[in-house]
Amino acid sequence: MNRESLARLSSPKLLKLADQYGTPLYVYDGDLIVKRYKELYEYIQWDKLKILYAMKANYNVGILKLLKMNDAFVDTVSPAEVLLALKLGFTKERILFTANNTTLNEMKAVQETGVLFNIGSLSELEKYGKTFPGSKVCIRFNPDVYAGEHKNVQTAGRITKFGILLSEVNHVLKIVNKYGLKIVGIHEHTGSGIAQTSKFYKSMTNILSIVNRKKFPDLEFVDFGGGFKVSYHPEAHPIDYNAFGKKIGKIFSDFCKRYGKELYMYFEPGKYVVAESGYLLVEVNTIKNNRGRLIAGTNSGFNHLIRPVLYDAYHHIVNLNNPNGKRKIYDICGNICETKDCFAEQREIPVVKEGDKLAIRNAGAYCYSMGSIYNLRPMPSEVLVMDGKEYLTTKQISNEDLADKLITSARAAF
Ligand SMILES: Cc1ncc(COP(=O)(O)O)c(C=O)c1O
Repeated sequence: MNRESLARLSSPKLLKLADQYGTPLYVYDGDLIVKRYKELYEYIQWDKLKILYAMKANYNVGILKLLKMNDAFVDTVSPAEVLLALKLGFTKERILFTANNTTLNEMKAVQETGVLFNIGSLSELEKYGKTFPGSKVCIRFNPDVYAGEHKNVQTAGRITKFGILLSEVNHVLKIVNKYGLKIVGIHEHTGSGIAQTSKFYKSMTNILSIVNRKKFPDLEFVDFGGGFKVSYHPEAHPIDYNAFGKKIGKIFSDFCKRYGKELYMYFEPGKYVVAESGYLLVEVNTIKNNRGRLIAGTNSGFNHLIRPVLYDAYHHIVNLNNPNGKRKIYDICGNICETKDCFAEQREIPVVKEGDKLAIRNAGAYCYSMGSIYNLRPMPSEVLVMDGKEYLTTKQISNEDLADKLITSARAAF
């Protein structure tokens, strides 16, 4: 497949944005997000297809509005995500709520919105059925396949909190019958960044075998989750999504023929839609030579982009001020008071000097959305670029405002 290179916003453009809005700064390429979302409909050969953007990957309101303008569906994982999607105009029919250890009060709040629940534990299913008998529901099974680019993002198989075991299907049916629930969807999510497409196919067939055996009479769709891998390393071998889309279309159409009904096929990609669109721009403010080990210290940290620390994730880093210069090896670190606060260790990049701006690439998924204000450093501003125009969708709050916010929220209690 012919996928264009990862870098779509040029270094001069990123430098200009860094100067204009200051650093650290998140920048997203909105045109690429729309392209990625839409192309999945071309690759996956099945007419009754719905692509639900997993908004946990990036809940930036500009990005959500953009996807909404392009008729997207969304997968949500918390009551606030459901609320945000509804407030932005996604109708309840376009939202799926993948519940995870929800409390009864949370269940009640989401149920009132009319959004469909995707339930992945027998105890939650029992609670849900008892409280809302007769409702429609989607059931999340564990497809019993280990896959994903790091053990911490594998969400199926033996050691996981997610999904109901396939062997527990009769127990599911008992609860469903007891409360008159209607199973309209069957779901699985194997993991994130799945490199071996064979594992994807295996998860699909495991789930479809349950559907085939149990013939859920109200079934409307099967949801195969997210996990489409994107290349984080410029030299990584990209997955041929064209061939992949054809293959999964064939698996599903063969299944529907055997099943005797044309079901909807759902996917829930997060990374695929937004990862490549994002850049975290940071400034080098300290260079240290620790007995030959060069350390480039920046004005951001793992509170703004945690994937290298949490998942040993590789993010390509470009020196915007010296993209083609002589290269040296650096630890590229953050300003957080933690030893592991590094974006990259022993990384060869063009020589860095104080004041240089670096672009950390593929920072569109699970970066800002996993961020925090640890060490009381505010989250960066975010800029969405579309059609050559820039939109400041989130403005960094000042240290003054951050401190005041904390004092104000405590004041009522203490
Ligand atoms: C239930 C569910 N669906 C979809 C996704 C999106 O995964 P990805 O961003 O790898 O496509 C996740 C992420 O972990 C998930 O837990």
